[in-house]
Amino acid sequence: MDFDIIHLKEVDSTNKYCRNLGKSGRKNLIVISDVQSSGVGRLERKWHSQYGGLYFSILLELNEVKNKNENIGKLNFIGSISIYESLFDYINNASQSMGDYNIKTFGIKFPNDLIINVKGNNKKISGILSEVNRDYGFLILGIGININNDIPRNLKDIAISLKELTGKEYDRFEIFNKFIDRFKNNYHLSDSEIINKYEKYSKTLGNYVKIITPKEVIIGNVFKIDYGGIYLSTIDGIRHVNVGDCIHLR
Ligand code: BTN
Repeated sequence: MDFDIIHLKEVDSTNKYCRNLGKSGRKNLIVISDVQSSGVGRLERKWHSQYGGLYFSILLELNEVKNKNENIGKLNFIGSISIYESLFDYINNASQSMGDYNIKTFGIKFPNDLIINVKGNNKKISGILSEVNRDYGFLILGIGININNDIPRNLKDIAISLKELTGKEYDRFEIFNKFIDRFKNNYHLSDSEIINKYEKYSKTLGNYVKIITPKEVIIGNVFKIDYGGIYLSTIDGIRHVNVGDCIHLR
């Protein structure tokens, strides 16, 4: 699996840029931009994209993904385990000298966020925005990772950069290349290997959580997560949810 890479200095959103290329028939492409003027997050939120972070989108052909993986949710799993694996060593090595966090609190929060607990607060380092276009037959995995970028003041309680966490600046492209390596490797794993990794890195599985969906709020213990969503044991019985914000309650 080889990708063409387009590196831009600035764009509104790499997902949007990829979408236009997808409509013109391009595939197996990664668009990366130093800055995004209108970065988009999940649930139509803004994704702050100042210089210093990693902002990129992977464009894949839907048929290939479907035939190969049978399930699009799998791509999100592959994305999040690959981000985890490309950041782990940096966070682990620095945790020897920094006292504010424990590497054991670093992991995946449902569905695809990478978080770490700092002085009692879960802070987000990275997120994924995936989109599918069935008319044109493509899929986009948009990834944002806070590396050296400054986090806006109003988000400091819920987000952190690798630089702020570890007290060091990083080479963004070294991390980007690590991610691509991990992504290519993980892409060829079997379902059970991918799910095993996801479960191992998950901080949501086994936790007591609140899921805020566009329609309701559900509280319960998470006993399973698969490509199709999250399973909770609640006072009203078993619930299966595939979209929403997840808050860890302990
Ligand atoms: C989230 O809300 O957690 C998902 C954030 C995804 C942000 C990335 S940055 C690259 C790509 N382009 C966008 O506009 N969004 C995604």
